[in-house]
Amino acid sequence: MTRIEANPDNIGQVFQEHTKYKYVATPSEMMRGRPLPAVEQPVPDGADIMTLPRDAAGDQEAEVFWRRVASRRSRRNFADEALELGELSTLLWATQGVLKMMDGHTMRTVPSAGARHPLETYVIVNRVESLAGGLYRYQPLEHQLVQLREDARLGFQAAMACLQQNMVALCGATFVWTAVIDRARWKYQQRGYRYIYLDAGHVCQNLYMACEFLHLNCCAIGAVDDDVMNELIGVDGREEFVIYLAVVGKRRGGG
Ligand SMILES: Cc1cc2nc3c(=O)[nH]c(=O)nc-3n(C[C@H](O)[C@H](O)[C@H](O)COP(=O)(O)O)c2cc1C
Repeated sequence: MTRIEANPDNIGQVFQEHTKYKYVATPSEMMRGRPLPAVEQPVPDGADIMTLPRDAAGDQEAEVFWRRVASRRSRRNFADEALELGELSTLLWATQGVLKMMDGHTMRTVPSAGARHPLETYVIVNRVESLAGGLYRYQPLEHQLVQLREDARLGFQAAMACLQQNMVALCGATFVWTAVIDRARWKYQQRGYRYIYLDAGHVCQNLYMACEFLHLNCCAIGAVDDDVMNELIGVDGREEFVIYLAVVGKRRGGG
């Protein structure tokens, strides 16, 4: 494995490359049985402490929202039933839907640093009504899905790329988010590499919440062999590369 020397003009790309699993050689603190780090920072000596009220503020509509926020979980089991096309459509809109154009930028259902929206959404379909198994990409401006490849085994191959996580083969569909890094770099240069991950967090949280409201199951995925997944979905891994995924499907209960 060739290591690239980092400098201020390539640090983002080096970070992206050198955080791939293939470079993680030494066992982690967890694997070595080291104690868990504390879950929060200690209170400074002598600090004033305020116990916060438990009841959420807001009207009835807000109450429903707070309940959904509290009930969100990563759910990894799926019913055999196919996802409805309308459900997939809503999930795509909730995660990347375009609300309006402003000075050449898109304003969407999710925030993005500088409204650059550098993410693309690929969908690996296992079981979605009216769609053949295979690879699709969301076109947010038109709210359309483009079929890139028909391949009923793609879900299985994607599960292997996600370090053998079976849920990728068993879900209704897997969302695969890539970053087209030049969209972020154009404004932020190397700092853009930070923002793509922050953007992706917002996108996936919207997916979780939309699934919660539609009673669908959803689980984020960060454990992926980047090179294999980039190849599976046909991106070059340098100018466009996978950064995050999530599986969705019909709810069967359980976690
Ligand atoms: C960045 C990120 C990566 C994750 N990657 C995986 C993954 O590869 N496989 C998996 O089963 N869960 C994954 N999860 C889900 C977490 O395990 C889950 O959020 C965590 O256990 C807390 O559970 P909760 O989501 O139900 O609150 C990931 C979550 C995040 C935010």
